[in-house]
Amino acid sequence: MLIRKPTDILPSEITPESLYRQRRRFLQGGLALGATLLAGGLLAPAARAARALEAVKNAAFSAQEDLTPYQDVTSYNNFYEFGTRKDDPAKHAHTLRTEPWSLTIEGEVAKPGTYTLEDILKPHALEERIYRLRCVEGWSMVIPWVGFPLADLLQRFEPTSRARYVEFVTLRDPEQMPGLRWPVLDWPYVEGLRMDEALHPLTLLAVGLYGKALPNQNGAPIRLVVPWKYGFKSIKSIVTIRFREDQPTSSWMAAAPREYGFYSNVNPEVDHPRWSQRRERRIGEIRKRDTLMFNGYGEQVAQLYQGMDLRKHF
Ligand code: MTE
Repeated sequence: MLIRKPTDILPSEITPESLYRQRRRFLQGGLALGATLLAGGLLAPAARAARALEAVKNAAFSAQEDLTPYQDVTSYNNFYEFGTRKDDPAKHAHTLRTEPWSLTIEGEVAKPGTYTLEDILKPHALEERIYRLRCVEGWSMVIPWVGFPLADLLQRFEPTSRARYVEFVTLRDPEQMPGLRWPVLDWPYVEGLRMDEALHPLTLLAVGLYGKALPNQNGAPIRLVVPWKYGFKSIKSIVTIRFREDQPTSSWMAAAPREYGFYSNVNPEVDHPRWSQRRERRIGEIRKRDTLMFNGYGEQVAQLYQGMDLRKHF
């Protein structure tokens, strides 16, 4: 990962959680227009992102922590298809066309095919879940995502018994994505999960945040969120989901195999070869805090890695 010093966020830019909660109640009280709106007419990205989504809060899967303000979540991003500076995605991702959008399901699966986003979303009730996101670069955020469990989607396509891994691929379109001009990665952006990780109830497919459709810079119209792994596993703007027998090679593994492994679980005990992973800076805070094993989700996910040497399988 290219490393730049995070710019400091002014305390005055922070939206208090209470204000967000008030807004949520307001939306739930009548303005929420429903997930079907995601499939609505052709709207400019800003209008699309502003659309409210109806989602039931999943308290059992939500961190009890102050939220990172919407402004920061949507302006301090990694989405290298739009440039490598933190403010590039917010500046440039308006060129991404998210409607119409379709997803191709392929590989070891009984029901492969290309499905419209509307067909993908139709059967799924949306939930709001507050997750910590810890970037491998050493910063973190707390984000109220709107989405549904990836497992519910994967099971609809009936993976075969040979499906041991799932590979995800981002759109690759140089016309819409100016960052593809630079060979920072071998495009398209690719990520992967082991099947049991993909089916874990914490693994979320997100279509929104803060009660609204995803802004393009955050991976519209659909992205992965895997909260116990470094942020780069949470691949954005997905166009292909491929069920595989063998382990996929992610873009970051291909770019720097000594630095990025397949698992990339948040682990303060295993340093990145060029920096420590012991501490992190929560966006909006000045003092660093300790990074927690599995980003604090150990109780839910540690059993997935029982018996594995996590220094070897980093
Ligand atoms: N997905 C794609 N397609 N391209 C990217 O550059 N960056 C990753 C991940 N998903 C990235 C991506 C990294 S490094 C992080 S930390 C998260 O997205 C950031 O997500 P956010 O901008 O919504 O906070």
